[in-house]
Amino acid sequence: MPGVSVFGAQWGDEGKGRFVDFLASEADVVVRYQGGNNAGHTIIVDGVTYTLHLLPAGLLYEGKLCVIGNGVVVDPGSLISEIELVKSKGLSVDALMISDRAHMVMPYHKLLDGISEDNAGEAQIGTTKRGIGPCYTDKAARLGLRMCDLLSDNFGSKLRSVLAQKNEILTKIYGQPPLDADSMIDEFAEYRDKLRPYICDTVRVCYDLFKSGKKMLFEGAQGMLLDIDFGTYPYVTSSHPTAGGISIGTGLPPCAVTEVVGVVKSYTTRVGKGPFVTELHDEIGERIRQKGHEYGATTGRPRRCGWLDLVIVGFAVRTSGMTSIALSRMDTLGGFDKVQVCVAYEIDGKLTRDYPASLEQLAKAKPVYKEFEGWSDDISHVRRYEDLPKSAREYIEFIESETETPVDMIGVGPERSECVVRRKYFE
Ligand code: IMO
Ligand code: MG
Repeated sequence: MPGVSVFGAQWGDEGKGRFVDFLASEADVVVRYQGGNNAGHTIIVDGVTYTLHLLPAGLLYEGKLCVIGNGVVVDPGSLISEIELVKSKGLSVDALMISDRAHMVMPYHKLLDGISEDNAGEAQIGTTKRGIGPCYTDKAARLGLRMCDLLSDNFGSKLRSVLAQKNEILTKIYGQPPLDADSMIDEFAEYRDKLRPYICDTVRVCYDLFKSGKKMLFEGAQGMLLDIDFGTYPYVTSSHPTAGGISIGTGLPPCAVTEVVGVVKSYTTRVGKGPFVTELHDEIGERIRQKGHEYGATTGRPRRCGWLDLVIVGFAVRTSGMTSIALSRMDTLGGFDKVQVCVAYEIDGKLTRDYPASLEQLAKAKPVYKEFEGWSDDISHVRRYEDLPKSAREYIEFIESETETPVDMIGVGPERSECVVRRKYFE
């Protein structure tokens, strides 16, 4: 039975939510495997917008199993708010499961994320300040508190011991007041009561679903170039959005993933700092931002915009074994006379299609473009590939030949139904 993964092949915000939502209709279970509430996955159904941060997008379908895997970092307070919000919109969360191994984002993680960003000056990463980096740091430093700890009688003493260390940092290094252990323990006791029904051994649950041939859908957050190993380090997030993150973030064997769908926006955006070779600083970039409402779903920050960069997509194809491309926002890119696609970088007079590791090399990289005729932006009614304008098809077919990967889904508008689908993923 196929295990289908949907992940971002650029810098996040590719439109993963809408494709996960589409595929979720056929899946038995939707699993998040990394990241936290730094994600913002937007789905629009019949004019109603749902923006999910921690909850898997399968939640929009009644009774669909939804798993928050061990690789996700969970801010319990914001998860509870999100649960209450979706319930108020008439959705059920009865089918939600949260891994007992998932690490919790603690109040000091958020505080330290904010302080270190504010103090970093030029070295700022531009994080979402949701405490994601400090939480994964503590996971690696073996100082983290997990969901199973929240349920344990020893939670108070574990928290006191970690908080003593954090208060040293807050007071001595940053000159901040210390955080109070008693009130934090009380706050988390409330979270425990609300989250207890959902916390379980999701590693066992996922394995049993896999073994019994259930259709599994893996929902990536962030994107390939925000991966801590393959991204534009240090301007990255602290997890593995690439397909390799699925096994570690769920406990499933790698063979559980049989299809890897990379979501590619027809142009490129990035929020936060860091290199961006095809960034447009001119009126075209501004026009894309306005037309595509390119403002962060989590932080509201304006997104940086530029042309499609196939050096990036090629890197994503190789590192995640992409079998399929879901191309989003072809409507947003419509209405331009000409559009450009970056096919290589020129660095010190040499051409390369490999994405450089070094920031210094990236700073020197000049995009090599191929130009295409534009197409009309009035394509949201199109449902069959053949009905797309010829120039849009030429653009798509060029992406397919350059990346050696079929473009199987094409977003032509923001609504759930505004999509051209060329194949079935769950047979
Ligand atoms: P979705 O799932 C776009 C970016 C932040 C920052 C960097 C590190 O909606 O695509 P972090 O808070 O993770 O430590 O910030 O990563 N970032 C995202 N950019 N989409 C996201 O998620 C992002 N999640 C984090 O802007 O540059
Ligand atoms: Mg987003």
